[in-house]
Amino acid sequence: MPATVILGAQWGDEGKGKLVDRLAEQATWVARFQGGNNAGHTVVLGEQILKFHLLPSGITRKECHLVLGDGMVVDPWVLDSELNGWSDTTGEDPRGERLFVSERAHIILPYHRYMDSLDTKIGTTGRGIGPTYADKINRVGLRFGDVAEVLNDGEWAKATVQRMNASLDAAGSQERVSVEGLMSDIEWIHKAYHTSIGNTGLMLDNALKLGEHVILEGAQGCLLDIDQGTYPFVTSSVTSRGNASHGAGIHPGHVKDVIGITKAYITRVGHGSMPTELEDEVGNHLGTVGHEFGTTTGRKRRCGWFDAVVMRHAQRINGFTGLALTKLDVLGGLEELKICVAYELDGKEITELPSTASALARCTPIYISMPGFPEMSLSEWLAMAVHANEAGKGISVLPAAAQQYIAKLEAIVGVPCTSVGVGPDRDATIDCV
Ligand code: IMP
Ligand code: MG
Repeated sequence: MPATVILGAQWGDEGKGKLVDRLAEQATWVARFQGGNNAGHTVVLGEQILKFHLLPSGITRKECHLVLGDGMVVDPWVLDSELNGWSDTTGEDPRGERLFVSERAHIILPYHRYMDSLDTKIGTTGRGIGPTYADKINRVGLRFGDVAEVLNDGEWAKATVQRMNASLDAAGSQERVSVEGLMSDIEWIHKAYHTSIGNTGLMLDNALKLGEHVILEGAQGCLLDIDQGTYPFVTSSVTSRGNASHGAGIHPGHVKDVIGITKAYITRVGHGSMPTELEDEVGNHLGTVGHEFGTTTGRKRRCGWFDAVVMRHAQRINGFTGLALTKLDVLGGLEELKICVAYELDGKEITELPSTASALARCTPIYISMPGFPEMSLSEWLAMAVHANEAGKGISVLPAAAQQYIAKLEAIVGVPCTSVGVGPDRDATIDCV
C-alpha cells in the first residue's frame, strides 16, 4: 500500500486530528513530518476528549505505529507529559514499542522557548518552534541522534550555553541558561528517549515495501507554509505536500493520495490578514457554534467565509486528490452562505493570492451567494451521518442547499470531496460515494 498525505488547506485547525484518527483504522503507521507542539488536535472518543500536540492522532488505534519524523522540532518535556497522560489513561507506554522519534528531528530546549516568548510581531504559539528551526538552518541545532554523543561533552555544553546566553542578551531577554542545566537536560532526554530514537525514515520505507499503509500527517496548514503561506505571518516549516515525504525520510514516489482538509468556512489564529474575516453576527455564529478556540493556546480563532482564492492556491501547491470538508454543520441556521471567489486589489479583480502581506491587507473579497440550510442538533447530524454511511448514500442525505454548497466548492476548487464532517464525533463524518 502506498502512503496517504493529510494536509491542512487553510490556516490550520481544519480538523486533521479527527480525519487521521478515522483513517488510521486502515493504517499501520502514522508519521508527522514537520512542525512541533504548535499543532494541536482534539479527538473525541465518546465521552472522552483527548488533546495532543505531538503524539500523532493514530495513537488511539492500538495496532498503529507512530513516528515523529525527521523534519520535526520536538519538545521532549511536552512529549513526556503527553505520554504520561496516555499511560495514565490506558496503562500503555508506547515508547520504543510503537512510538519512534527520528534521530534527525531537532530538539526544542528551554532556550528556544525563552527566545520565542519575545515574539510580538507574528503571534506565534510561543512554543519555541521558530527559534529551533532557526538553529537548524544556522546549523547549530541539537538533534535526537546527537544526544548520546554529547552526554558527557562539557566543552560542547560550555560553547552552546555561551552562544545561547549571548543571543538571549542581545534579544533583551532576562532569561539565562547554564552548563549544569543543559547537561542535566541532556541526561534526562537520553534516559527518557534512548529506546525510541531511531532511523524512522528507514522504518517507514521498510513498512511501505512490505505493503503496509502509512499516513503522513501534516500540521498547521498551507497558508502557514514558510515558502507558500502568507509570509511573514507563517510558521517556520514547509507544511505542504512537497515536504511530506521528504520530512518523513521517504521518497515522493511512495505517495498516492493527498487529502486536503478544509473547513466549510475559514479560521485563523495569530496575526496577518484574512480577507474574508467577519467581525459581525455571522462571525460570532461561526466562532460560537464551531467552538473556535485554539487547542494549543486557547486563543479565539478569527472566523470568515470560505475563501476560494486561498483554496486555489493550496490546490496548486499540493495537488490534492480529494478534499475532506469539515464542520459543515456549523453553517446550519445561516440564511445566506457566501463564497469568496476573487479579491479586489487596488481597483482590479485578482484570482491569485498576492505574495506580500501589505497587498493581502488591501484585498477585499468578491463574493457569490448561496442559500443556507437549517440548523440541526449534533445528535441529528450524527444520526444523519451514520445513516448515510450505513446505507451507502453519501451526501445525498443532506439538505438540498448543503449539497449545492458542496457541489459549488468542488467546482471552484476543481477537486472532489471525499468526506464531509458534520460534527465533532468520530462517526459524524459522511463518506462521499
Ligand atoms: P509558530 O508556529 O508558533 O511559530 O506560530 C506562527 C504562526 O502560526 C502563528 O500565527 C500561529 O498562530 C500559527 N500556528 C502555528 N501552529 C498552528 C496550528 O496548529 N494551527 C493554527 N495556527 C497555527
Ligand atoms: Mg490545531
